Amino acid sequence: VPENIRSMLDAHELLKKFYHHLLVNTAEGQHALEYLLNRGFSKESIEKFQIGYSLPSWDFAANLLKKRGFEQDVMEKSGLVIKKERDGTYFDRFRDRIMFPIFDHQGSTIAFSGRSLGADEPKYLNSPETAIFNKSKILYNFSRARPSIRKQQQAVLFEGFADVIAADRSGVENGVATMGTSLTDEHISILKRNVESVIICYDSDNAGIEAAYRAATALGEAGCTVKVAVMPEGLDPDDYIRRHGDDKFKKDVIGSSLTLMSFKMLYFRRGKNLQNEGDRLQYIEEVLAEIARLEKAVEKDLYLRQLAGEFSLSLDALSQQVKEVQSPPS
Ligand code: CTP
Ligand code: MN
Ligand code: MN
Ligand code: MN
Ligand code: MN
Repeated sequence: VPENIRSMLDAHELLKKFYHHLLVNTAEGQHALEYLLNRGFSKESIEKFQIGYSLPSWDFAANLLKKRGFEQDVMEKSGLVIKKERDGTYFDRFRDRIMFPIFDHQGSTIAFSGRSLGADEPKYLNSPETAIFNKSKILYNFSRARPSIRKQQQAVLFEGFADVIAADRSGVENGVATMGTSLTDEHISILKRNVESVIICYDSDNAGIEAAYRAATALGEAGCTVKVAVMPEGLDPDDYIRRHGDDKFKKDVIGSSLTLMSFKMLYFRRGKNLQNEGDRLQYIEEVLAEIARLEKAVEKDLYLRQLAGEFSLSLDALSQQVKEVQSPPS
């Protein structure tokens, strides 16, 4: 390992321990700990995920790292401190935030995401892309979840930290997060190497539903068995668990996740009034286009019958239209 890389990793390890200590053992961290406990984070989760707190100081990390002999320009490249152009001094990137260490897939700390305690923007401040952190290649919690993912041959994909941690506490230990809503090709190949089946459990808001549709389509095209867990409009998994409890989350959300086709049908219905003829025709065409893409004849038949039954259409007409979608008449 090159010296600069070693030094960046060591600095992250050191700060992870300090931030965690500040959160759990000091008066300065008390209000941050209360914030987390009020939000339903357990003491066990705080330990397991090594959550911390960064002081409202401009130079706590900068001074600590300097005192411990870390080169300041290397620390700047690691994203932990920022250089002031005016006088060439360094100040802390993370101040007065709940600190979520981000681990690589072997478990080393390679970045942080800091959540503001109040309404400060951004809500989450992340480490920049560095020589040791590439967000598009990292799934949060993969290193901890891997054994459970392998054993169950299934992973649950969340958006964020709080979702993974709440789910873990509820007993869903095979959860990982994209840290936002974009699932990259690299994420997909990590999942493909480890599991057959993925349950997408994104937030039930517009952004989350749109992202779930994109992620489900991409994972499906990559050959994964995809399911999508849905929750009442507006909630995210962490909200849901707090409101409805662990058992309902496991049974009514994860255990009742929809097949890819059922989710797509639900998705195509959004914003449509199926009593309206135009909307109804559009919905039927969208579903037919999906059916046309299915590979297995049995599945095609199943969904065609379902659609025919639902709208009192003749199966012949629908089958005919599917054939036309597949090979349009020239
Ligand atoms: N995120 C980010 N930067 C932001 C907002 C979000 O990196 N400014 C990432 C974080 O990893 C966050 C995830 O996207 O966990 C999902 O975002 P969102 O649903 O907005 O946040 P929650 O995870 O629900 O956060 P909280 O429950 O703490 O409000
Ligand atoms: Mn501890
Ligand atoms: Mn969200
Ligand atoms: Mn959310
Ligand atoms: Mn949330």
